[in-house]
Amino acid sequence: MREQGACTVVVGCQWGDEGKGKIVDVLAEGVDIVARYQGGANAGHTVEVGEDGFVLHQIPSGILHRGKRCLLGNGVVLDIGQFFEEYDALTERGIDLEGRVGVSIRAQLLLPYHRLLDRVAEDCAAEKIGTTGRGIGPAYEDKAGRRGVRVADLNDPERLGVRVAEACDRTRRRLTALGADGVDTLDEEIDRVLAMRERLLALATDTGPEISAALRAGRRVLLEGAQGTALDLDHGTYPFVTSSNTTAAAAATGTGIGPTAIDAVVGVVKAYTTRVGEGPLPSAMDAEMDEHVRQLGGEFGATTGRPRRCGWFDSVLTRYAAQVNGLTGIAVTKLDVLDTLPELQVATGYRLADGSVTESFPADVGSLGSAQPVYESMPGWKGSTCHARRIQDLPTKARSYLDRIEELTGTPVQWVSVGTRRDQIIPVG
Ligand code: IMP
Repeated sequence: MREQGACTVVVGCQWGDEGKGKIVDVLAEGVDIVARYQGGANAGHTVEVGEDGFVLHQIPSGILHRGKRCLLGNGVVLDIGQFFEEYDALTERGIDLEGRVGVSIRAQLLLPYHRLLDRVAEDCAAEKIGTTGRGIGPAYEDKAGRRGVRVADLNDPERLGVRVAEACDRTRRRLTALGADGVDTLDEEIDRVLAMRERLLALATDTGPEISAALRAGRRVLLEGAQGTALDLDHGTYPFVTSSNTTAAAAATGTGIGPTAIDAVVGVVKAYTTRVGEGPLPSAMDAEMDEHVRQLGGEFGATTGRPRRCGWFDSVLTRYAAQVNGLTGIAVTKLDVLDTLPELQVATGYRLADGSVTESFPADVGSLGSAQPVYESMPGWKGSTCHARRIQDLPTKARSYLDRIEELTGTPVQWVSVGTRRDQIIPVG
């Protein structure tokens, strides 16, 4: 395995669901701290240990490694109820969490009215985003609007009461105007969540100083992104994006460390592409192949169960992701899903409406929506890869496919996954 720096970011380079959880799970073995830097319970990291499968929504997947400290940074929007559900489920499975989980004192709270507003606003919207319904957009709206409630506010019940009442009343008015059901029970739900106040405060930390001190002391840190580059609020396929910055630079602002503390950025890409929710997917497969690959890859959302749309590997997007994130390496996941396909396509450019071909990722969703990918065909390897444990064990054609991905992305491939188990993640080099 290639040497990683003391502080490494793991970031998705497509539309989320790239298998970041799996890569973090493996890399976590060599670090002391794993921290999430953005997003909330919209993420669903599926990790398998032995016969056991876990879906983690908020707690970093490093939690499955004994003794690792797992942090939720200030860039996260924390759904307290969901967080403790996950916390308790892990405890029930015999995982010792004592002293291992920390939540930034600066993190925003995602409260029940955010969830309700997300669902109702999406139902009423003319242009739907296809959100996960977890309240992410409204919670970040409150943060940017300076109406948000932070973990630190839990220390001062009086101030907390005033801030929650103000934010809730405002949202209640919007909900009532939209004809939402469920407004009547909001107070009850908020009380239930805020009753966990002391429990949450016991886990509070200032993640920036904590991580910085750990790095000074020679410890190793992994910063775990959720969603993917194409869902980034600034750099993604706006408006069909999530409401946070998912890209690597946000790992610094979302945890409270300086950008110079980051040594390496590992981008995770699937060997093909998927997208869940609305918005363009330029390298979409035809209907028959889309269904075939969805079944082969089990491409259904970990959070919502929605079917994911499938596309061919899109090097226009991943080259863009390499630039935006400053990637130092990539991990290619789910290579085994392609094992039976006779021929593969790789998008190397987009033909735009005016007939010109570009290798750049368009900023406007209109151009992206009408872009026709320019494909390069590659032969499939038509053989099982799931037993490979070294890169040399892979069929020659599978290795050529990876070489081409590396070439087109301009970034070295450092890991390849050929299955869901830890031993099926192959280090390269
Ligand atoms: P939101 O983050 O729930 O507001 O959803 C905004 C967009 O991001 C929608 O298209 C979602 O499907 C997508 N999205 C959010 N979280 C994930 C994820 O973890 N994986 C894949 N797509 C996601």
